[in-house]
Amino acid sequence: MQKDPVVNALFERLHPDDIKALDTIVPELDHPYAQEWCKPTNNMARWRALTLRFCTHFLPESRQRTMLSEKIPPKGIHMMQRADAWFVGDFYSSNMVIESLASAKIKLIDGNNYLDFGCSSGSLVRPLAAFSTKSNWHGVDPVGESTQWASENLPLGTFNQSPQSRPLNIEDNCFRGVTAISIWSHFSEKPALDWFEEMARLIMPGGWLFFTAHGVQTIRWAKKRANPETLERIRLGLRQNDYHFENVFGGSEHYGLETQDWGNSYLSPKWVLNNLSDKWDMIFFQEGRNQANQDCYVLKRRWT
Ligand SMILES: C[S@@+](CC[C@H](N)C(=O)[O-])C[C@H]1O[C@@H](n2cnc3c(N)ncnc32)[C@H](O)[C@@H]1O
Repeated sequence: MQKDPVVNALFERLHPDDIKALDTIVPELDHPYAQEWCKPTNNMARWRALTLRFCTHFLPESRQRTMLSEKIPPKGIHMMQRADAWFVGDFYSSNMVIESLASAKIKLIDGNNYLDFGCSSGSLVRPLAAFSTKSNWHGVDPVGESTQWASENLPLGTFNQSPQSRPLNIEDNCFRGVTAISIWSHFSEKPALDWFEEMARLIMPGGWLFFTAHGVQTIRWAKKRANPETLERIRLGLRQNDYHFENVFGGSEHYGLETQDWGNSYLSPKWVLNNLSDKWDMIFFQEGRNQANQDCYVLKRRWT
């Protein structure tokens, strides 16, 4: 399976002249990324990603070919990625989504609708919409400032504020596919089930849901940084119930959101099979695939 498919496909759209132009710009920059770009490397994916970032920010004409955007959310607008001067979107997650879908024998289809559920300020929609320009990309998130910024700055997607609880104001079977990164890692069990039910309404039969969730790998990943008692509680919760919720915000407001049912959650593939098999087939699972922490799942919407 091809690695880094999004970065590679976007890089292919650059012209040799773009790289030549960077040769006169990047060495002048006083930044570790610039120094990294100038040094010989075997890590072509990383070098290509940096090249795309520099091209997007310094060469407006390259943007017309890659369709990447140079806009950076200002301080105060939510984004998970560390913003630097050359941010163009979340390449890591977009590669992870397309690689996982490819493992499940799924390709994006022109003319179809796709949704990023919990899109924040559009970091993932940016590279996916550039990668697949003939599909329609949507993002929803309950934090209105995030979707408003994305709406005003990212012309390739359509972004809307969503309610914290279902339903979304979108018709049945609208989407061929939905991505949700670090969303089911936060719901308590009831809203987790409710939102899977809502996805079954929104995703057409044969369509797919890519999501990430904390699981047992998170316990190993967190070993050095988390309180051992908390980790033991999570381990027990997962062993006994296959689902565990930690109310980490204690109900206090977070980005203006209600947090009684939004904290840190942990679930197992067994929980997914036991609870979702009536409407979904699990067609891909990879433990810890997201940042060596969260598990990745692809579910396919059943026809029945
Ligand atoms: C950990 S961030 C992940 C953001 C984005 N998916 C990413 O990976 O960069 C969680 C996101 O979920 C959003 N969120 C919070 N409650 C939600 C809900 N009930 N439904 C959907 N998204 C929610 C937050 O506003 C935030 O943007």
